[in-house]
Amino acid sequence: NLETPIRHFLELRDLDAATLRAIVDVAAGVKRMQRGRQRPLHPAQPLAGRTLGLMLSKPSTRTRLSFEVGMRQLGGDVAVLSPNDMQIGRGESLPDTARVLSRFLDVLVLRTGNAANLRQLAAWSTIPVINGLTPHSHPVQILADIMTFEEHRGPVGGKRWAWIGDGNNVATSLIEAAARFGFSLTLATPLSMSPDPEVVGWARAQGADVAVTQNPHEAVRGADCVLTDTWTSMSDEESVIRLETLRPFQVNAALMAEAAPNALFMHCLPAHIGEEVTQDVFDSPASVVFDEAENRLHAQKGLLLWVLGGANWRAAGQEP
Ligand code: CP
Ligand code: NVA
Repeated sequence: NLETPIRHFLELRDLDAATLRAIVDVAAGVKRMQRGRQRPLHPAQPLAGRTLGLMLSKPSTRTRLSFEVGMRQLGGDVAVLSPNDMQIGRGESLPDTARVLSRFLDVLVLRTGNAANLRQLAAWSTIPVINGLTPHSHPVQILADIMTFEEHRGPVGGKRWAWIGDGNNVATSLIEAAARFGFSLTLATPLSMSPDPEVVGWARAQGADVAVTQNPHEAVRGADCVLTDTWTSMSDEESVIRLETLRPFQVNAALMAEAAPNALFMHCLPAHIGEEVTQDVFDSPASVVFDEAENRLHAQKGLLLWVLGGANWRAAGQEP
């Protein structure tokens, strides 16, 4: 088969370490190129004439804006599709939708409340499909997290990260990143919200140093980066029991004090101050959450260049 495989971006584990590393490096290159320019447009407009479809069946601020603005800065166009306004909202099948969208668009980002829909869409699509968050994973978020850490603290390889709270979709992608980027990761979650054991098993089989505990103090000890996320994800039912179960997993100043002296704090946002993180930690010098949010934009550009840029996609991260 001489056809080039479609560059889907469904899970971090689908890509090899070198490709993921290159996406983050190209993203950082494009960000540097933009610095000092009055308009943030990529000088070579490498994605001119290409159109990205954004199909989001759940709310989004950062994912939507970073893909929309990032695609335009690379010279491309964007169609924002709301599933409720499409025929899929009244029963047109996913395979038919995938085949139709493939005739109009060059790449499609999907945020869905059902992870199986992402796989099905990709299976029927003849254009690349990007995972814009499912209840299972959130890989695009982690590209920005790696980029943010490295901007502040240098290469992530060999560093220690701690995830505190719910073993959710963001945690899944973080575990896969530990395997691909070579940092060690300890996750502290209530037993009932443990990270997906299949994902932990996969990462360990890759040689990753991934530990799971129910003790947040143990997790943060010596950590170079402490991360958390909302206690109620979009796929969760709000409940008092959930919040009470997660209460001992709040990232507060006392917990941060147990991490390495120059530890960073990260959060994919949106945050719920007073639940998973306290105001003082959120606003502290250790907190890089708004750099992290901004880096969604740059990371998306690195990703779109890999997905659509062909064989020489890395060159788009350097000054023409
Ligand atoms: N972090 C993140 O994905 O944010 P949005 O839900 O706003 O896209
Ligand atoms: N875990 C959160 C992430 C939001 C970006 C959720 O799924 O709602």
